[in-house]
Amino acid sequence: MIALVTGGTGGIGREITAKLRDAGASVLVTGRDRTRGQATATDLDVTFLPADHSTIAGNLDLAYRIGERVASVDVLVNNVGGGAFAQRTVTREGHEATLALNYLGPIALTRALLPLLSPRSRVVQVVSSAFGMHRGDPFAAPARYTAVAAYAHAKLLSLLATMSLARQLDGTVTVNAVNPGMAWTPGVQALTPRAVPAWRWIWPLVRAVQRRASPEKAARTPTRLALTPDGTGRFYESNGTAQTLPDRLRDPHLQDRAWQYAAAAATTIKE
Ligand SMILES: NC(=O)c1ccc[n+]([C@@H]2O[C@H](COP(=O)([O-])OP(=O)(O)OC[C@H]3O[C@@H](n4cnc5c(N)ncnc54)[C@H](OP(=O)(O)O)[C@@H]3O)[C@@H](O)[C@H]2O)c1
Repeated sequence: MIALVTGGTGGIGREITAKLRDAGASVLVTGRDRTRGQATATDLDVTFLPADHSTIAGNLDLAYRIGERVASVDVLVNNVGGGAFAQRTVTREGHEATLALNYLGPIALTRALLPLLSPRSRVVQVVSSAFGMHRGDPFAAPARYTAVAAYAHAKLLSLLATMSLARQLDGTVTVNAVNPGMAWTPGVQALTPRAVPAWRWIWPLVRAVQRRASPEKAARTPTRLALTPDGTGRFYESNGTAQTLPDRLRDPHLQDRAWQYAAAAATTIKE
């Protein structure tokens, strides 16, 4: 079994990687920092592929290198993500950076890897319960930029596009989305009160709670979905239960629009 875990050199991704490795998978992990990547490869007996997921081109380049290396991918865990940009940032490709990392990048990577997926393959898209914070039109950026608002927007579009992909593949490849739940990871440690203004008055309390949240625990449901999914086109909460999405998010046209928007963005990029 060949598994790819994006952002697998730290945080929740590293824990998913360890669990997949324990289950017998040959795991490819990505990250930007080569020293950390090589250390992860040695510690966990996995393969490190340096990659920057912050642009579509970085994801397409990774897909190309994976295609050169393996004939198939059994498990794709689109784990990389987060939203620590205190100020609105735009990538060199012209996309809001949190949207690019959490939504456009994973869809570009998944699209490019589709020829390597087989009926046995599983795609696990890591999202967040924060998607519920984005109200109104899913395609409208937050009226006022905050890191958490951009993150909620990106995870909502990522979730919608994942549901579209599941329908497009119609059970030939298993595709699910999961909220791993809170975990004290490098991404969370990098957050400042500016990222979530509503929490600034209770920041010490928030940090005390976050510090206790285990990345290993957060990795459990994503790993289960990677190894033994019990359905496709579902959204799973961190406790392992499939949740019914709100009515407004179950609209197939809306989901397909989310997929098509990201797919169109990917086709404009030259590798
Ligand atoms: N932690 C939580 O409380 C929480 C809650 C809900 C959902 N989630 C979701 O769970 C997933 C994992 O979260 P996490 O907190 O574990 O994230 P994290 O701490 O930011 O993840 C760190 C890992 O991602 C890699 N990474 C970060 N940015 C990258 C980039 N641009 N290109 C390549 N690799 C990159 C890091 O390696 P390098 O730094 O070397 O690149 C490292 O391997 C995300 O999708 C997140 O949105 C997390």
